[in-house]
Formats: sequence, structure tokens, C-alpha cells
Amino acid sequence: MRLLTLVMQIVLPLFVSSLGAGAANLTEDYFQPNSTGIKLQNGFERLFIQPFGPHGMRVRASLMRDPTGTESSALLDPPIEGPGGNAGLSHDLAIPFKGNATIRNGNLVAELSFGILSFFRVSSNGSRTLLISEYTDTKTLPARYYRQDFRAGSFAAEFSFTSDADEQIYGVGQQACCKDNSVNKKGQVVDLINYNSHVPLPVFMSNKGYLQFFNMPGQGRLEFSPLRTRLAVDEAFVVDYWITTAEPGDYDALQEQFTAVTGRQPTPPDFILGYQQSKLRYYNETQILSLAQRFHDEQVNVSLIVVDFFAWKFQGDWSFNPEFWPDPVGMAAKVKELTGAEMMVSLWPSVEDLSVNYIPMQEQGLLAITRDGPGVQDSFAGVYTRLIDSTNPAARQFLWKRLNDSYFSKGIHNFWIDQADGGTLGEPFENNGQDTINSLPYARSFAQYFLGTQEKVGKIYPWLHQQAIEEGFQNLTQADPSSSSCQYMSLTRSTFVGGQRFCSYLWSGDTSSRFDVLAQQITAGVSVAASGISSWTLDIGGFTGLNVDTDSGRELFVRWLAMGVFLPYMRVHGDRDCNIPLDPSQFLANQCPNEPWSYGDDNFVIIKKYIALRYQLVPYVKALFQMLQASGRTIMRPLYYDFNHDPSIINGTAVNDPRIVHEYMFGPQILVAPVSVEGAATKDVYLPVLSDAMIAQNFTWTHWWSEKDFGTGGETVTVNAPLDQIPVFYLGSKEDIFSGKVNI
Ligand SMILES: *[C@@H]1O[C@H](CO)[C@@H](O)[C@H](O)[C@H]1NC(C)=O
Ligand SMILES: *[C@@H]1O[C@H](CO)[C@@H](O)[C@H](O)[C@H]1NC(C)=O
Ligand SMILES: *[C@@H]1O[C@H](CO)[C@@H](O)[C@H](O)[C@H]1NC(C)=O
Ligand SMILES: *[C@@H]1O[C@H](CO)[C@@H](O)[C@H](O)[C@H]1NC(C)=O
Ligand SMILES: *[C@@H]1O[C@H](CO)[C@@H](O)[C@H](O)[C@H]1NC(C)=O
Ligand SMILES: *[C@@H]1O[C@H](CO)[C@@H](O)[C@H](O)[C@H]1NC(C)=O
Ligand SMILES: *[C@@H]1O[C@H](CO)[C@@H](O)[C@H](O)[C@H]1NC(C)=O
Ligand SMILES: *[C@@H]1O[C@H](CO)[C@@H](O)[C@H](O)[C@H]1NC(C)=O
Ligand SMILES: *[C@@H]1O[C@H](CO)[C@@H](O)[C@H](O)[C@H]1NC(C)=O
Ligand SMILES: *[C@@H]1O[C@H](CO)[C@@H](O)[C@H](O)[C@H]1NC(C)=O
Repeated sequence: MRLLTLVMQIVLPLFVSSLGAGAANLTEDYFQPNSTGIKLQNGFERLFIQPFGPHGMRVRASLMRDPTGTESSALLDPPIEGPGGNAGLSHDLAIPFKGNATIRNGNLVAELSFGILSFFRVSSNGSRTLLISEYTDTKTLPARYYRQDFRAGSFAAEFSFTSDADEQIYGVGQQACCKDNSVNKKGQVVDLINYNSHVPLPVFMSNKGYLQFFNMPGQGRLEFSPLRTRLAVDEAFVVDYWITTAEPGDYDALQEQFTAVTGRQPTPPDFILGYQQSKLRYYNETQILSLAQRFHDEQVNVSLIVVDFFAWKFQGDWSFNPEFWPDPVGMAAKVKELTGAEMMVSLWPSVEDLSVNYIPMQEQGLLAITRDGPGVQDSFAGVYTRLIDSTNPAARQFLWKRLNDSYFSKGIHNFWIDQADGGTLGEPFENNGQDTINSLPYARSFAQYFLGTQEKVGKIYPWLHQQAIEEGFQNLTQADPSSSSCQYMSLTRSTFVGGQRFCSYLWSGDTSSRFDVLAQQITAGVSVAASGISSWTLDIGGFTGLNVDTDSGRELFVRWLAMGVFLPYMRVHGDRDCNIPLDPSQFLANQCPNEPWSYGDDNFVIIKKYIALRYQLVPYVKALFQMLQASGRTIMRPLYYDFNHDPSIINGTAVNDPRIVHEYMFGPQILVAPVSVEGAATKDVYLPVLSDAMIAQNFTWTHWWSEKDFGTGGETVTVNAPLDQIPVFYLGSKEDIFSGKVNI
């Protein structure tokens, strides 16, 4: 049942047209900055401003010495498009304290006036619009404010920029819990610290027509206060940011330009776009084989079967415990034979001292340490653990060798990177998993890596962990490193800006199984998509708290699964509750079922229907991924992307009105409005006003299930929403959608 024979017809957007109406004539100045850069020296401080990428500027600020250029960076140098590649710190203008200078790259102008930096967009008629300035006033902290560390050359920094009270700010990564239902982040403070479900990415788009990205993996926070946007980082050697511009409302252009400097998502293999089966946890080979047999017998398509944590004996083994998994080769082959599915295994970054890998890794210095001595970063399942130091290339190589020996060479090709949020095992507290002493309010251990401290580089730890798998895929499959398609994938709980360049997908972590959290996932998903990461999914059903034996749990599961049909990946996972007791012979061996047939006979009929629909939609999903690859075009789209001409969308987004922010576009032609109220029979759906381009194509909103035509939008309609009919509307024709022909 592998999806090997899909016939595809794709209409890719032309480069220039995708930049939207109103953009300047790009062919003329797109690759033509009028200067190689500016250096401002202000006593000990140096500021470099250089053209980089399409309509972009890179700014680097350092104290006492020039940046080395080897600091951790998520920018591709050279960028995929645009100027500035391999330029080092080159500049042809040097100005003093309070100096003046102007530099242009495409439609972006950077201007220093009395030493204060501002950015402008130039429109096609030559007019300039101010985007942001460094924030100054007669009595305020300097816009570029530093506090030097007393031991090292590093410093803490706060950088402030102007903002208007009515500006809207989108992106900033994934905040997938639980009260945060925002798409517009204005007014918020976002902690730049990774943990379970919280993947803050220091990048945002503004409705004023710019995107700003802080190319720094340090911990800190982003503050979006009424007058000022401020980045605060705990430790840095250099403050490094990038800004680009497009006409206001042209978010696809901003994404195209942003992914030109941070990377484009390689297209996933076809199989992973099907249905993915996972739970906490299948704990022996027999269970996996009976699972595959059941999918085969029930004739339900499945594309990926996942083995969760503690299939190992000791943390850090990165291999199966042979007692329960005696024949991985045979198992993977049998699963493939029965279902066509690939397999995936979980790996954790924690290493305990009973693991065979502990001593060699300790000897070779491949484990993260702590600045206060013992090296222990966390505790889980009754043992203290340390993290593999994936910031060290030798550690990445070590890890891959184990993964290859244990799994990849045995036919299990896909890897689930769990708990590798960095610093600890990834909760906002330490002592993860110790029930009696849970939630001690230590923010983090003093983790220290090959590349630096948790404070300075911690946010790039998960990204480098992803890179270990990526390098491994490339080394083992001899793939061309610049290849734009993947054979296999990793799944990850965290990432950093630019993570979209990997054969990897992010999921929203350990969510609660609640109706309100189902809705909250929409704002999490569209926000991380607006940060460049469209390769995203979640736990269908939520991770924790769903009782399979209750009506309410079953209803929640079906509602969530229906939404999962219309996500980049359709993945069922969770730690379920049920009437079957835990198996005491195994650690966390929850025996509760979480399969399509586990939710009652009536629901099984519905679940089968949704899974079949997913397979029908695979050509469309594949087309969306191809557009993402070609130009960074976002897949899970907040409504402000396609309908920023509709005042109800703009106003609703401004205040994060649930009526607006709990709907999304799945690609440019499908509007999804998941039901997130228990017991609901109908749903009120706001249909956005169609754009002129959509109307010119004779598009109207058509209800997916009844085929009723609801016109060109601008009103709220009420539709029936039984369990087997998630409220969905489409534009264009279903034939085109099912054949992967995207028309807009
Ligand atoms: C853009 O500039 C190029 C080169 O100057 C010119 O040939 C082309 O006609 C221009 N296109 C538009 C739409 O102005
Ligand atoms: C910058 O320009 C202003 C006027 O625009 C001028 O007063 C000032 O002297 C200039 N600064 C330098 C260092 O040239
Ligand atoms: C570069 O462009 C800016 C903005 O158009 C202009 O003010 C500046 O004088 C130009 N610099 C050079 C060296 O041509
Ligand atoms: C130039 O174009 C911008 C953006 O389209 C517009 O806001 C402005 O009014 C125009 N200015 C003139 C002088 O036409
Ligand atoms: C596998 O788990 C099942 C419970 O689902 C149990 O009955 C069986 O004995 C286990 N097999 C092995 C080899 O542990
Ligand atoms: C991949 O191969 C290169 C070249 O042999 C090596 O330097 C690198 O460490 C390998 N990466 C991994 C993760 O094994
Ligand atoms: C991966 O495993 C295969 C099969 O054992 C072996 O041929 C290959 O050399 C291994 N590669 C690495 C990088 O360990
Ligand atoms: C299963 O998937 C295949 C494509 O791999 C598709 O042709 C078939 O219709 C699907 N079956 C069902 C029941 O959805
Ligand atoms: C949107 O907000 C503006 C400004 O508050 C208001 O004038 C306008 O009537 C609102 N439009 C809609 C459709 O809500
Ligand atoms: C839209 O409909 C009109 C009237 O039926 C027709 O003339 C036109 O060709 C259609 N346009 C498209 C893009 O299908």
C-alpha cells in the first residue's frame, strides 16, 4: 500500500508573481546591493550592516573585537538567493560614532543617521516607508545595550526597536500550551527557552511588511510592548539579526525571502504523507506484528508504525532491548510485507551510566557537562542522566553509528527525536519523571556544551541533534547533500530557525487531551508555520488524559483525527487511559489501545473514512510540499495570509478572536474549521472574503460534504457538523484537489 505511483500535476507559482502585486521590478536590483557593507565603530562597539539575501540586511554587533564569523548561525552563507554570500565582514563604508550612511539591497534601505539605524521599504514608485528604527528617546536605555560577562568575552544584550501600538506580530515559533490562543503576538513576552511544547523561534513577521530574525541561539526573551520590540539575550559573543521587506500583506514573499537565507524544506517521501500509527507504547515485537496484521486484515492503510521510548534497556543504548525485540530485521520486513509501512523508533538524548555507551562517551568527551561539576543534567526513571553533546560533531558521528547498527541497517529507517529540547530532558523544570519530587523550580541545569553554555547556544541543541540524523541519512544513503527530497524522515519535539532544511518534522509535544487544546493547536501550528516551519504535526487525540473507554474521550479523538486529515502529516499518538491496568513487568507499559478500531465500532467506520480521505488528499499534500520546497510557501496558513484584504480577518486577527484564529487554510484551497466543543452538532464558520484573483477564477466557498455553494465570503455561516463531517470548505474543483493540481 505504499504511495509509489501517484500521478502528479503541479502548477508551481512563478517566482515574480508569487512576490505579489506592488513589488518593485525585481530583475533590476534584486541582486544588486549598492554597497558591500557599512561598519560603524563606536568606541568598543562595532556594528556591521551588510546586504544579505533578497531585500535583506544582516546586522552584527560586537564589543571589544570584531565578530569571528564562526559564531553559531542558522543563515545559509551563501544564501540560496540574493547577494551577500561569503562576504565575511567586508564593507566599503566605515563611519564613526554618530555617523551617517545609507545602503540599499533591493527594496530594503538601511540608514544610519547620527548613528541610529533605521530600515525602510522602497516601493515601486520610489517612495520610502519606515519599517523600524532603533528605539531611542531622551531618557531610555540605549537601543543597543550590553552588559559584559566578567569572565569571558561574552555579554548579555538588549536590543530595542520602534513599534506602533497597532502593529501585528506573527510567528515567534510554537507555543502549544494551553492558554495561548494567539496568532498576533503583540503585547506578549515570549521566553526564548526551549521545553516540551514550547519551541520559541526568534523570528517574526509584521503587518507593516517586514520580517526580522535574530540569528542567535541564546536564551532570553522577546518583548512586544506597545512602543517597542525588544530582544533580550542572556549570553552572546555577537548580536546578529536579519531583516527583509515586502509589501504589507505579502507574507508568501516574506517567507520566500526568509527561506532563501535559512533553507527550504526538502520534499518528504510519499509514504510519510499517509497515516501514521503511534502510541505510548508498543513494548514488544509481538505487539507490533499483531498491529500490522490487524491493519492488513481490516484493510486500513497505514504508512508508518512507531516504536516509542524504553524499547531500550538503558537510556543511551540507542538499541533495542533484545529480550523484547529479538528480531528487528524480521519485524521490519514483516511489517512492510503486511502493510507496506515503514517503521520509526524513538531515541532520547539521555545517557545513564549503566549504558554501554556511557564510558566510551565520557572518555571521549561526548557528553554535555555542567559548570558546577557533576555533569548530571536530569533524572528519569529513577536514574540520573546526562545528555549527549550533539553540538560536538564527534558526538553526532557516535550517535549515528549506533543508530545505524541498531536500526537503520536493520530496515528501520525513521527516527523520532524525543526529549531533546536541550539543557535537560526538556520540561520547564528538572527531575523530569520523578513523581515524588517533580517540578522542582530549577529553571535549568548549568549545562555546558562543546559549543558553549546553555545560555549562549542552548536553543540550537535540538537543531544539531536533528543534524546528526540528517548527516547520517546523507552518509548512509549517499544522497546528494543539496538534494531537495528526502528518503526518510526524523520527527522532532524541538528545533531552531532553519530546521526546515532537514528531512524532519516537528510535532507540538505532550499536549493535553482537551477540546480547548485541540483548538489551541491551530494557533500553535499556524504560528510555527509563519516562522518557516511548515513540516509540522501533533498528537491526534492529544498526548495525555484521554480515556479510550469514555464517550467523551472517543468523541475528542474523532474530532482531533478529522483535523489531522488536513495537516501536513496525519499522526496518531498518545498516552491513553482505559480500563486495562498497567503491565507491571515493564516500565510505563501502558496497555491501553490507540488504534483506529479502539474507539468503538461506530467510530471505527468514521475513522476509516477519514483515513481513506487522507490517502485521497496525498497528491494535494504532496503539491503543497513541492511549493514549500520551491519557494517556502507556507502549508498551514493563518487566515491573514490569503485574506488580508478582509477587514474582519484583520480586525479578528488583531484581537486573536477565536472565530478567526481557530480557522486555517490547508494550502491555498481548503479552509478548515475544526470542531472544538464537546457535544456540538453544528459549527459557525466565518468564510473570508475572496480576493479578486480568486473571484476571477470563479472560485466560491463550497462546503466539502454537502457540495453546497456558499458564495464569495464575508459572512458567518452555520453548517451541520456531525462527527464524520469536519467543517471544511474548498475553492476550485475537488478533481483538481484530488489530483494535486493547485490553482492559486
Ligand atoms: C523590469 O526591468 C527589466 C530590465 O530593466 C525590463 O526589461 C522589464 O521590462 C521590466 N519589467 C517591468 C514589469 O517593469
Ligand atoms: C549626520 O548628518 C547630520 C545632518 O543630517 C549632520 O548634522 C551630522 O553632522 C552628520 N554626522 C556626521 C558624523 O557626519
Ligand atoms: C545606496 O543607496 C542609497 C539608497 O538608495 C543611497 O542613499 C546611497 O547614496 C547609495 N550609496 C551609494 C554608494 O551609491
Ligand atoms: C507610492 O507607493 C506606495 C505603496 O504602494 C503608496 O503608499 C504611496 O502613496 C505612493 N506614493 C506616490 C507618491 O504615489
Ligand atoms: C508481548 O506483550 C504481550 C501483551 O500485549 C504479552 O502477552 C506477550 O507475552 C509479550 N511477549 C513478549 C515476548 O514479551
Ligand atoms: C558523515 O560522513 C562525514 C564524512 O565521512 C563525517 O565527517 C561525518 O561525521 C559523518 N556524520 C555522521 C553523523 O556520521
Ligand atoms: C551502517 O551499517 C552497515 C551495515 O552494517 C555498514 O555496512 C555501514 O558501514 C554502517 N555505516 C556506518 C556509518 O556505520
Ligand atoms: C490505500 O492507499 C492506496 C494508495 O497507496 C490507495 O490507492 C487506496 O485507495 C487506499 N485505500 C483506502 C481504503 O483508502
Ligand atoms: C475593523 O476595525 C476598524 C478600526 O477599528 C473599524 O473601523 C472597522 O469597522 C472594523 N471592521 C470590521 C469588519 O470589523
Ligand atoms: C468564469 O465564468 C465566466 C462566466 O461563466 C466564464 O466566462 C469565465 O471563462 C470563467 N473564468 C474562469 C477562469 O474559469
